[in-house]
Amino acid sequence: MTGVKSMGVQPKLIIHGGAGSSLKGKGGLGVVRDSLHKIVAEVYTLLENGGSAVDAVILGAKRLEDEPRFNAGTGSVLQSDGQIRMSASLMDGTAQKFSGVINVARIKNPIEVAKVLQTETDRVLSDLGAAEMVRELQMPIHDPLTDLRLHEWMDERKGNFSSSMAGVVAEDEMANSARHGTVGVVALDKDGKVAASTSTGGKGLERIGRVSDSAMPAGNYATAAAGVSCTGIGEDIIDECLAAKVVIRVTDGMTLTEAMQKSINESTENKRDLGAISLDAEGNIVWGKTSEVLLAAYHDGDAIGDTLEWQIEPGVGSV
Ligand code: GLY
Repeated sequence: MTGVKSMGVQPKLIIHGGAGSSLKGKGGLGVVRDSLHKIVAEVYTLLENGGSAVDAVILGAKRLEDEPRFNAGTGSVLQSDGQIRMSASLMDGTAQKFSGVINVARIKNPIEVAKVLQTETDRVLSDLGAAEMVRELQMPIHDPLTDLRLHEWMDERKGNFSSSMAGVVAEDEMANSARHGTVGVVALDKDGKVAASTSTGGKGLERIGRVSDSAMPAGNYATAAAGVSCTGIGEDIIDECLAAKVVIRVTDGMTLTEAMQKSINESTENKRDLGAISLDAEGNIVWGKTSEVLLAAYHDGDAIGDTLEWQIEPGVGSV
């Protein structure tokens, strides 16, 4: 374990704002970098001040949901019928407890519903049940639609929905080049506890009722040993059961790098389009992808870094 137990473990943090094909402009890349680094700095301060991994991944997911350039919360993409439906989940690795909300609408922070569901008997709610819980919680009505997302959808409508999914990073120069957004956070706190959160507006342009990986253990999973949050095409992530697979491999004795490498190799062989961020209770931070780019940033205890200019080829990276 990193650090001396009595003095606490060195906290670690990694977050992502999606994955996809090459970012075209450095201008856009700089804006994404600023957003990610700012959120990492704020969430890492919480961890340094003794905040729990669970509180850190909730705060990180909220900040990413509130950032309109990422496809989660405000700035979510529209589905085929022009509506926004969002999904989010939270996993406390120590309690090994998963909670999530599927296709919830008209709220600001879907991760807040997942947080409340951690202590409920029924811990994953969808559609009508999610709407009822939002009403019970008296969450304020919030329209997560942005002008850019609306115009993207209207352009797709003019083109008779020729794309299979929406663009994901809400920058004009990136909108058609960087896809498959979802946001996620994995944290290790001073007590050596791990947690993971993931939130998404989905693929965009999907059928009504389509269920994202982000509120499934395939897309978001943690045990006491490690945590993973995924991004990419939900169906690919579900077919690989990526988050749970990596975490269980670590729980069963593989190193995090070995587990991520083996899982990304399998995903590459199976021609999947996805990415994942992870960390373990030893303080290792590892990420992997088959897509061209992974929009992730981390704090390794010394400094903030990111993966924005990382290799185009599928692979695994670590600090
Ligand atoms: N990974 C997000 C989605 O496909 O819904």
